Parts: sequence; C-alpha cells; structure tokens
Amino acid sequence: MTDRYGLVGKPLGQSKSPIVHGAFARQTAQDLTYELIEADAFAPAVDRFRAEGGRGINVTKPFKLDAFAYATECRERARLAGAVNCVKFEGDRAIAENYDGVGLANDIQRNQGFPMKGKRVLVLGAGGAARGAMLPFLQAEPKLLFVANRTVAKATRLGEEFGRHGNVVTGGYPDLGDEAFDVVVNATSCSMTGELPPVGAAQFGKDCLAYDLVYGKGLTPFLRLASETGRTRAVADGVGMLVEQAVEAFEWWRGVRPDSAPLIRQLTVPLA
Ligand code: ATR
Repeated sequence: MTDRYGLVGKPLGQSKSPIVHGAFARQTAQDLTYELIEADAFAPAVDRFRAEGGRGINVTKPFKLDAFAYATECRERARLAGAVNCVKFEGDRAIAENYDGVGLANDIQRNQGFPMKGKRVLVLGAGGAARGAMLPFLQAEPKLLFVANRTVAKATRLGEEFGRHGNVVTGGYPDLGDEAFDVVVNATSCSMTGELPPVGAAQFGKDCLAYDLVYGKGLTPFLRLASETGRTRAVADGVGMLVEQAVEAFEWWRGVRPDSAPLIRQLTVPLA
C-alpha cells in the first residue's frame, strides 16, 4: 500500500517539499506520496490526515509550535528548539523531531565545505530559526558561536539555554564591533522583506562563508554586502538546508538515506 506523508502549513504555494520527497522516493524505490496540507488550524487537519492513514508530516509556518504541543513525545532536538518540523505517527504516538538545524549544519559543513570545528561562527537573529541551529552548531564544536540579535534579551536567553553545550557569546549588533568570523549565518527574517540586518562588513572574515537561510531570493542585501567585501570564499542561500532537512526526515520515516546532491543541483537558482 502506498504510504502517505505531507507538509502542513499556510501558505504553502511555493513549497518544494513534494518535489524533494517525490524524487527521494523514486531514487530509493519507496512507495509513498507526499502532499501539501494547507490548513487554518493544525490539530484538526493532522487528526484527519492520521485517520486517513497518514504516516508522517513535515511542519512549517505557522505551526511549528502547534506541532510541539500536539506531539505525544519529543526528541531532544525538537525539545531544545521548542519547535517541531517533522512528526512520525505510530499508532497513538506522534513522535516529534526538528531537522532544520541539522540540515543547515550539514549543508554548511559537507556541501559548502566549511567544517565549523575550531572556527568562529556568527548567527544573526535569535528567533525560531536561530534557536533550531544552536544545538547542531555547538555539536560541530566551533571555537566561538556569537549570537547577535536586535532584541538583545532574546539572544541572552539563547546563551543561557545553550551555553552548557559550548562557547556561546551573545549581544546586540553594536557589540560585534570589528570582530571577524569564518561563517556568518543570516537567521533573521530580514531577507523575506528585502532588508539588510544591521551587520557590518567587518564581520565577514577572510575566506568566510556567508549563508542566508532564505531560498530563491537571489543575492539578498545580506549576501550582496558579504560579496562586496571581496573576502568571502562562498555565499549560499538555504536551498541546501531545505534538501538536507528533508534527507533527515526521509531517513527517519523510511529507514533509507537518499542522496541530496541531485536535488540540490536541480533546485539551485543562481544567486547573481
Ligand atoms: P524565524 O522563525 O524565521 O526565526 P522569528 O522567530 O519571528 O522568525 O524571528 C525573526 C528574527 O529576525 C528575530 O531574530 C528578529 O529580531 P527580533 O528578535 O529583535 O525581533 C529578526 N529580525 C526581523 N526583522 C529584523 C530587522 N529589521 N532587523 C534586525 N532583525 C530583524
């Protein structure tokens, strides 16, 4: 019997997830479908999908916290992130995971070729996306993980929560001064509206990676600033993160790990 999976969120118009999971299913000869489940309310839509035999879901805006509340059990990453992007249904159990951060860390380290071990890493933003990245980044053992946010108290809270996992420094943008980093990640929502987060050119160190979590927006103001310093070795958007978190979800659901490379090639939109 064909197993059903899907993505729950609203709006879902631009989602590439059905393409990604459909391709993974073909690549690994798994008998499954992956559908878009656009919903006004999370729990009733998910209950319906489960009643129809749904085996698992991905979760996107605005439901990552609803999924956390819905779950009957949460894996460590989802618990620490306080948000869920993936659920597996087993009978009455709804087991929750969060692969956003690990997908991002894998893309940076494996695909972009920037291992974070011993490096200086800067995360801009302290919202849901930044929170999800904290544990996977610290597990990569950077020398320093600096979290800068407009609302300093939110960065401070992340530092307090995750400081026991590694060397975390937090502050506002002015606290960055002239400090330079090896990896600079824009985890603010600024690029969604074409804004530049208040980061300085000095933050982009020699041969650094500048990574913007958004996907398909071309050279965002953040990536443009980075390129114009002339010091970046690479600039990247979030297409690899999108595919890598899907790899993790697919493997968890199906027990077989697809190859991300063909999908990243297919979905990559040139930045400039
Ligand atoms: P997401 O789930 O995408 O992380 P979020 O939780 O709403 O979304 O977080 C948005 C992040 O972008 C926050 O860090 C926010 O900063 P504040 O915590 O100070 O609000 C950041 N952000 C949004 N607009 C910004 C702007 N114009 N300048 C600087 N930071 C901005």
